[in-house]
Order: sequence, then structure tokens, then C-alpha cells
Amino acid sequence: MPDLPMKYSIITYGCQMNKADSDLMAALLDRRGWQPAETRDEANLVVLNTCSVRERPEHKVYSVLGELRRWKLSRPEAVLAVSGCMAQHAGEHILARAPHVDIVIGTHQFHHIAELAERAARGERPILDVATDQDPSGSRCREGEAVATAPLRAFVPVIRGCSSFCSYCIVPHVRGPEASRPPEDVEAEVRSLVRQGTREVTLLGQNVLAYGRDLAKGPTFDQLLARLENMSGLWRIRFTTCHPRDVTEDLVEAIARLSKVCEHIHLPIQAGTDRLLEEMNRGYTAEHYLDLVDRLRSRVPNIAISTDIMVGFPGETEQEFEESLQLYERIRFDSAFTFAYSPRPHTAAADRTDQIPRKARLERLGRLIERQNRITLEANQRQVGEEAELLVDGTAHHGEGLLSGRTRTNKQVLFSADAHLIGTLVTARLTQAHLWGFMGELV
Ligand code: 5AD
Ligand code: SF4
Repeated sequence: MPDLPMKYSIITYGCQMNKADSDLMAALLDRRGWQPAETRDEANLVVLNTCSVRERPEHKVYSVLGELRRWKLSRPEAVLAVSGCMAQHAGEHILARAPHVDIVIGTHQFHHIAELAERAARGERPILDVATDQDPSGSRCREGEAVATAPLRAFVPVIRGCSSFCSYCIVPHVRGPEASRPPEDVEAEVRSLVRQGTREVTLLGQNVLAYGRDLAKGPTFDQLLARLENMSGLWRIRFTTCHPRDVTEDLVEAIARLSKVCEHIHLPIQAGTDRLLEEMNRGYTAEHYLDLVDRLRSRVPNIAISTDIMVGFPGETEQEFEESLQLYERIRFDSAFTFAYSPRPHTAAADRTDQIPRKARLERLGRLIERQNRITLEANQRQVGEEAELLVDGTAHHGEGLLSGRTRTNKQVLFSADAHLIGTLVTARLTQAHLWGFMGELV
């Protein structure tokens, strides 16, 4: 980059896949001699890694781009890039609406960020790269290669894209069809991370259970878990997200049998009546989902089950909404991400004429959150007094002198102890339940 300190700042919206993509961009920039900026003012490259899954975060990106206009005016040499799902599906529009953007780089090309940033810095701007040739193998390190930062808990994408076409979802249209990374690639990356201090990995995909289907010689996802189980130095394995349609007996067995695989599954249900599930093109019934939950709970005692729930899908009646709530009461999720339906371009549901008014969608969302909060709190309260293994991952954001750890069931516990325990496994008694997790004490 001519004459300017090579300092970057990445702002991330959306899901864990996006977070992982940001980590990968950071690692690739580091490798080319860039350094993370302490503040935005110090940065000469700002990347906005965006999300399209709902409309609201898209508005937010345009407003942040507006704010960055001043940053850009004061340093015309600096480079402003937009990546992620919005870049992929609305690239031209972004350049038209925010002409101070230098680079629009899509979800298939983001691993070229450093090269594009240097081209833009040399004056070649704007650059629009939203080509869709899928390369799932983008990796922060090859076998034996160093990474600038190997976090204690790392996120490792194993499959990108989605071939499910739920009728509300923009992701398959933006991120393209499923593409699995070769298992050797995944293993090599995890091994490098572990060698440098990572102790827990979360394997990521829009649907990790589709892993391997597009590879000539598999393996299936449960087989991938089994391969990682044997890696010494790795303590915990997590994975997300799982399509309920694709949960197999082999997967349930793998969670039960493999000691490093944590007792937690994120299993988005989306809706609770057969008619809505059918209209959403989800490929399972309420009965099937209930059966799955029973099998998981009987085979893996203490498993935590979390979910995604959407309200206000087109045509959802008040009675269907109530029926869904009753199903969630029966299931008793440990926690849920809750969303009001948002019509998205390219999706079948967006064209329907029976859209639910925004006010009603938000009102249902409020009722759902209230119910689920009570269920989450009750689930946590039942665990008070129990002991749990924690991976201590740092100091608490709030609360002077407290450390923060995660249970195998992915719940947060704050407790008082010396900072030298960060990065170790400890046992704590859960003393107080909250919505966000627990207060605890070392045993
Ligand atoms: N509107 C609202 N929520 C959505 N999600 C996906 N598409 C939409 C949409 N159009 C939610 C789903 C998914 C989560 C990542 O986002 O619940 O599981
Ligand atoms: Fe957002 Fe979905 Fe893209 Fe993730 S995959 S960034 S949630 S649109």
C-alpha cells in the first residue's frame, strides 16, 4: 500500500459464518503485512462484512456507510470495502448508493481481499468482484503454517453454501449450492490451530449435516467428527447449524459416544405447525421434530438444545402461532434465537400476497420472547447446585475481577478466580441462574 501504514479494521454483521470469514480475511491480511488498527481513525482499510438474512441489518449497513463518508473524505487514499452477503446480491446497488465505496467483494471471492485492497490503493477503483465460482477451501492456514492468532475457541467452516431452499431464505440464492471442504483441509487447519493453542473448535456450515454429500468419497459429518476426536491437544468439538431433516442415528450416536463432542445441538425449528413447516419447505413435521428431541435427550443425557424460531411467516394465523407456542412449551428449548419474518428478494415467500403486517409480526415476536425467556430461565434454574466442567475463556465483560467460562452445553458461567486459569478446564458449582447463564464458584 503506497505510503500509508497498512492498518485494517473489519466490522462484522450476521452469523458465525460471517465472523469466521472475517477471521479468515484478517489472517490473510496479516500474512500480507497488514496489521489490525486499534481504532477506525487509524485504519487505512475498512471492511464491512455484511448480512442479508433480514432487511433491518441491510439498512444499518447503509447508515454505517454514510457515517464512513467523513472518514473517507479525510483520507482519500484509504480503502473502503464491502464484503459478505449484501455485497454478493446487491453489489451494483451499493456502488450506486455509496460511491465512496472502493471495493465490493462477494461471498465466493473474499479470500482475495488483500490483493484487491492493494489494487484499489494503487488507484484502481471501484472494484466489483462478485463472481460465483465456489471455492470452499479458503483456509487461514495450511498444514504446519503459522497463524497470527489462534484463539482458544476457533470457528472453522467445513461447508459453505446451502441447497435447501427454505421458501423465506435468501442464503442459497446468495451463497450458492453446498460445497464441502476436503476433510484433509479441515484436519490440517484444526491441527495447526491446536498446535498454536486452540483448545475448542466449532465446525461451521449453513447446514453442517450436509457435509460430504458433494464430495466424491464422503465422509459424512459424523465421520468427520470421529476423525477430529483423535487429535491430541484438542479438548472440545462443537458444530452449528443442523437442519432437523438431516439428523441421522449415526449423528446422535457420535454425540453420545465421542468424548470431545459437546452435549449441545443447535436445531432450528422455525415454526411449530405442519402447515407452516410445509409452506416453509422445511421437510419435517412437528411430530418428527418432537421424536428427534426425544431421541437426543434419551441417548445424550443433559444435552442442551437451542433453536431458531421465526414468527409472522406469510399466512400465519393467530391460532397457528398459539399452536406453535404450545409445541415450544412442550419441547422446552434451552435457548432460542427469535426472528420476525422479513421478506427477502429472490425468495418464494416474498411474492405472497398474505404478508402479515409488521405490527402483528412484532407483537407475536414479543410474546414469543417473553415465553422463551421464562423457559430458558427455568431450564437454568433447574441446574443450580450442579457441577459443570468449564473452559475458562477470559475475564467477564461486566463484573470486576470475574472470569468467564463455558459449560459443555455452551452456557456461560461467571466466577471469581485468578486470571492464570484462563485457557484451562476447571470444575465449578452453579450457584445462581440467569437468562444469560450462571454465577458459579470453583470447586
Ligand atoms: N426473515 C426472518 N428470519 C429469517 N431467517 C432466515 N431467513 C429469514 C427471513 N427472511 C432466520 C432463520 C434462520 C436464521 C439464521 O435467520 O430463523 O435460521
Ligand atoms: Fe447473514 Fe445468512 Fe449470510 Fe450469514 S449466511 S451472513 S446469516 S445472510
